[in-house]
Amino acid sequence: MYPDRVVSGMRPTGALHLGHYHGALKNWVRLQSEHPCLFFVADWHALTTHYDDPSAIETNTWDMVIDWLAAGVDPSQSTIFIQSKVPEHAELHLLLSMSTPLGWLERVPTYKDQQEKLADRDLATYGFLGYPLLQAADVLIYRASMVPVGEDQVPHVEMMREIARRFNHLYGREKNFEEKARDAVKKLGTKRAKLYHELRTEYQEQGKEDALEQAKAMLDDAQNLSMTDRERLFGYLEGSRKLILVEPQALLTEASRLPGLDGQKMSKSYGNAIALRDDSETVTKKVRTMPTDPARVRRTDAGDPEKCPVWQFHQVYSDTVTKEWVVKGCKSAGIGCLECKQPVIDAILREQEPMRERAQQYLDDPSLVRAIVADGCDQARKLAQETMRDVREEMGLSYN
Ligand code: TRP
Ligand code: SF4
Repeated sequence: MYPDRVVSGMRPTGALHLGHYHGALKNWVRLQSEHPCLFFVADWHALTTHYDDPSAIETNTWDMVIDWLAAGVDPSQSTIFIQSKVPEHAELHLLLSMSTPLGWLERVPTYKDQQEKLADRDLATYGFLGYPLLQAADVLIYRASMVPVGEDQVPHVEMMREIARRFNHLYGREKNFEEKARDAVKKLGTKRAKLYHELRTEYQEQGKEDALEQAKAMLDDAQNLSMTDRERLFGYLEGSRKLILVEPQALLTEASRLPGLDGQKMSKSYGNAIALRDDSETVTKKVRTMPTDPARVRRTDAGDPEKCPVWQFHQVYSDTVTKEWVVKGCKSAGIGCLECKQPVIDAILREQEPMRERAQQYLDDPSLVRAIVADGCDQARKLAQETMRDVREEMGLSYN
């Protein structure tokens, strides 16, 4: 009914690193050639945790967009925009907030996790609790079918589905639809009518997909229903006939296989990152000073790649022949660690070369980036406005 559409966002954390590239951006670049894609800077989301210091948001936004473009996100294929430039996200967030149970937000795992992790900040705020609801508005406003996210964000997408379902249930009914549907249920016979109601409740209140499937199968088997009644009952199962908002699917992005220089997760705050646009000297130095298997104190000491972060880089960057050379050379002390690191350095520099080139034109002329984003904002706003028109109308707020 609605077109295939991918939506994803990132908070403006500033210059991105190779972990972001291998974890998310590479995936975006692939998706943009397969589906219509919208990618946005979640600047309001940055405020949910850093409301006390918004000074870096703007610079971080432009740096991050340049990195997206550098990585190959192509503005002729994807819509690139900034969340706060499409205020319809906020309007939908507000309207959804009216009917979203507090419990749904409180039980999202990232809520407590992040509060504990960022214990130095006061995150007992309304905005922080609403983080996943704003995220739901970001996606639902485009009626997106797919949301590429990392594992930690999957519960957020689950919640979006519940929110869409609830919204359709509350506002998508036709005139007298409920009454007609209830009459149709009676035609199923006492026993099946009771089962139908139970399954419907299980699906709508607890989101049990198997209850939905079971109910649909039952309707398929029911001989004595007219076509119209059958259709009504299918619609009533999911709460409505009209799908105002679409339930999106999470597209799970595989975790980046590229760790940081020390073997921990790559992160700017751990100081173990290689930035997407680090120059070749910096990259060379960073890799040359990477820790290796501690057993290799002297050149003549044999090592074990499994105990060495450089080996994990080879897993991402090297072909079979090189990897065999590493394992053999390391275990027999046939190669030195610097020698072993060279193919990794070469591969990273090769990977970054087109990125650095693409970035350069935008660094030379920042107005290009501004124009791409302005254009993306216009496109996104148009789509968002269409949805909001429907939403307002269904909620009785169109004032015609
Ligand atoms: N919460 C996401 C993150 O931290 C960012 C985000 C905001 C997002 N809105 C979104 C991701 C909508 C996907 C869809 O990475
Ligand atoms: Fe690591 Fe390579 Fe040195 Fe072995 S030879 S310890 S894999 S850097």
